[in-house]
Amino acid sequence: MPGIEWDESLSVGIDLIDNQHKMLIEKTNAISEAVEMKRGLEKILQTLSFMIEYTEFHFSAEEKVMMENDYPMLEDHKKLHEYFKTRLNQMVQDFEEEGATVELSEDITSYLTNWLVNHIKGIDTELGKILQEKGFKG
Ligand SMILES: [Fe+2]
Repeated sequence: MPGIEWDESLSVGIDLIDNQHKMLIEKTNAISEAVEMKRGLEKILQTLSFMIEYTEFHFSAEEKVMMENDYPMLEDHKKLHEYFKTRLNQMVQDFEEEGATVELSEDITSYLTNWLVNHIKGIDTELGKILQEKGFKG
């Protein structure tokens, strides 16, 4: 699975969020790289835990901006974040139970990549538009 490359199509129009998304993409790419280079379970789990840490930071920051700007889809958006965090924790468990098998590793990296791109291009882009309309400057 090739890594994600950030380009303007991934911009939500708010610098604060775009910059955090770039970091999140880096963390996802680090997992893909660890998987591709067959760096082993320990390294994969380490990159995954960096991803989890940054995801939590980013989601909280995004949710704070949503709350402060009376974003109308706050609850639904938060649910998507919660679901993704649960999935990330499941991945750690799956790796611990199954080991870094090729199948599991590939499933996980493609899931992460797809989820991230779809989330950014979908609901986060909508959020960006609303924030811009409200005059929020990240
Ligand atoms: Fe989001």
